[in-house]
Amino acid sequence: MRIAVLNGPNLNLLGTREPEVYGTTTLAEIEARLHEVASELRVTVAFGQFNHEGDLIDAVHALGGRAAAPGVAPELRERADGALVNAGAWTHTSLALRDALAGVQLPFVEIHLSNIYAREPERRHSLLAPVARGVVCGLGAPGYELALRGLVALLRAAR
Ligand code: DQA
Repeated sequence: MRIAVLNGPNLNLLGTREPEVYGTTTLAEIEARLHEVASELRVTVAFGQFNHEGDLIDAVHALGGRAAAPGVAPELRERADGALVNAGAWTHTSLALRDALAGVQLPFVEIHLSNIYAREPERRHSLLAPVARGVVCGLGAPGYELALRGLVALLRAAR
């Protein structure tokens, strides 16, 4: 089983970005931990971080089995069974990203490090949640690991 882990804008800054909100764990540390959990679960994970919305949408299309656009990174060009998606601020703004995820029917768990429902009003609404299989939010970096375990269990139960 192949799971993609897709991170949106500014998440490359984790570790130093507003640590009181997002913690001090870097994205590279999250990725390393997910590879450990993935090998325990006998799945593979492919990681991506995007600061440009169209690049993320191209990757979603490829992961959903559509022909990959030229700019999609090699590890994200093959079809995935599911995805973990922390879309950052696009969570609250991008109908295009929701349409892409729904359009290729990529099962995904939405993730947020912070509890978006306890933050500013503009962060309390997710455009992605209506098409997500589940949402993990407010648990910090360990939320990625929990989301991976949950998504793999859901996908295995559906087989
Ligand atoms: C975030 C929450 C978003 O509101 C914010 O724009 C982010 C990170 C989180 O992980 O808590 O970039 O998705």
